[in-house]
Amino acid sequence: MSFFVIKVILGTILFLSGLGATLTMLTLMGRAEKKTSSTTLRKLHKFFGFIFFLLLLVLAFMGLRYWASVGDEISTRAVMHGILALALFIVFFTKVAIIQYFKQFLKMAPTLGLIVFSLSFVVFVISGKYYILRGYFSSPAAEITETSTSEQIQGKVGEGKKIFDTKCLSCHSPDTEERKIGPSLMGLLKKDSLPHTGNPATVENIKKQLIRPALTMPAFKDFTDQEFTDLFAYLRTI
Ligand code: HEC
Repeated sequence: MSFFVIKVILGTILFLSGLGATLTMLTLMGRAEKKTSSTTLRKLHKFFGFIFFLLLLVLAFMGLRYWASVGDEISTRAVMHGILALALFIVFFTKVAIIQYFKQFLKMAPTLGLIVFSLSFVVFVISGKYYILRGYFSSPAAEITETSTSEQIQGKVGEGKKIFDTKCLSCHSPDTEERKIGPSLMGLLKKDSLPHTGNPATVENIKKQLIRPALTMPAFKDFTDQEFTDLFAYLRTI
């Protein structure tokens, strides 16, 4: 299963446990008539909060690992996701610290809880929801207007390997079936279909992926014709 699918699934559970914690808290503090016992609600609130906390740690770890492997290639959307997630972390821990140790501030806890929930919603929507929408509604076989003159330029395998090692290797393995952040590219142009979209494995389709990626891969629009040709000369050898 892909890294991002796992992240979206965990993110959904995180969001739902946040929703559960918020609803139990609102019921506990805001309802006029008390139907359910407050101990049960408190326990439920803690249970949801605990799941939320565990998933927050796992997702933060996954996110940071991704950020570290991608470095400066990261998209603006991913940067926003990361910063807001960090803010969420801080507010969440402030809230837990208040409840545990600084009871003088207890009145602030529900507000902080609502902020945590709102932030988790925003963080989830700008990434998880975004992937879902892009995955379903964008056509990976997007049109490319630019015609290439690459056939006339001689590709150099060594140069292509350099490009691959600096721009692609962090996410794709060229010589094992191992899936990193992206699928393995071993035998890429020797196979019938591309590993993610299943489109025919042709130079044109790979170029489309590089210019307008199917999902989360960063785009490589700025390659010159020479760089493309070198890269493809190398890709034919893997
Ligand atoms: C940040 C990680 C990352 C980097 C860097 C990256 N890719 Fe990808 N690549 C992915 C992911 C994730 C996918 C799955 C589809 C998607 O997200 O667009 C993918 C899919 C692909 C596919 C399959 C496309 C298909 O139609 O099935 C090819 C080919 C590919 N990448 C080539 C490259 C090349 C060549 C480079 C370097 C110039 C590169 N990628 C750099 C993450 C990356």
